[in-house]
Amino acid sequence: MAKPKILVTRRWPAVVEKRLSKSYNATLNPTDVAMASNAIATAFAKYDAICPTISDKLPAELFPQSRSRVRILGNYGVGFSHIDLDAAKAAGIVVTNTPGVLSECTADLVITLMLMVARRTSEGERQVRAGRWTGWRPTHMMGAKVSGATFGVLGFGRIGRSAAKRAHHGFGMKVIYYDAFPIAPDLAAESAAQSRDSIEAVLHEADAVSLHMPGGAENFHLINAERLALMKPTGILVNTARGEIIDGQALADALRSRTIAGAGLDVYEDEPTIPAALLQTNAVLLPHLGSATRATREAMGMMVADNLDAFFAGENLPNRVA
Ligand code: DGY
Repeated sequence: MAKPKILVTRRWPAVVEKRLSKSYNATLNPTDVAMASNAIATAFAKYDAICPTISDKLPAELFPQSRSRVRILGNYGVGFSHIDLDAAKAAGIVVTNTPGVLSECTADLVITLMLMVARRTSEGERQVRAGRWTGWRPTHMMGAKVSGATFGVLGFGRIGRSAAKRAHHGFGMKVIYYDAFPIAPDLAAESAAQSRDSIEAVLHEADAVSLHMPGGAENFHLINAERLALMKPTGILVNTARGEIIDGQALADALRSRTIAGAGLDVYEDEPTIPAALLQTNAVLLPHLGSATRATREAMGMMVADNLDAFFAGENLPNRVA
């Protein structure tokens, strides 16, 4: 039987590309340039599977009106708000993702960002490299003490809980969280986390707030000017989830007016564009590095391959989201 034809839209770790090329008639993307939407739209008629990433936007209008040749989208990533799941379902296309394998590394980056903001590390590095450091002095670049402070988590899923464990066990932080769904007591106990009954309560009480809800329309600009105003003037906001959760202009205004003290961002509403207003603030800005370790990026790719293998073998899919 002919091998299924698959399209991999970006460069993936070599070990995964090798596996996919062995099992499938795989079209890889050696240039690693994001594919144009019309090229993806036409791919629906040419391939049996497409393996997209967050850099491929798949809104409803890109999907074929009738059943397409593509029967599965094996998304490389846990978040899938860049794919219109209803349109995929209507076109008879299954969608899978890569949960779990990236939780620890992304949680590491949450803590990195929190510390970078609290301890003003980007600012300090810039000062040193620019030759502006004039030597040690008692009041130089004083930041905020993280140990013993309160860590607020909005969305207590895998990544939020992993970050909470690091904050609690590594830094003795008190953990509070809000989640729209009930959390099993043993999962909350891992970081001695206390639940709060609203987003607002967490924003009001925490010294550092980390966002871990899904992106997409349901949480679009959830963190707006009104909610930022509930945070402490010493408060720090961290976002490794999805950019659209924060109203970027409202955040830039809140940072400039000192409504909050700082922000650490790894994700943006219209990546890779960073709003000019945010570039002019003291926010720490990273280029979507949450899962960017060799081991994790390989594990994510292997998970996509496992899902494709199961699909084409007619077996149950390990990570089906639609
Ligand atoms: C994820 O896995 O969702 C990462 O943010 C990359 O898409």
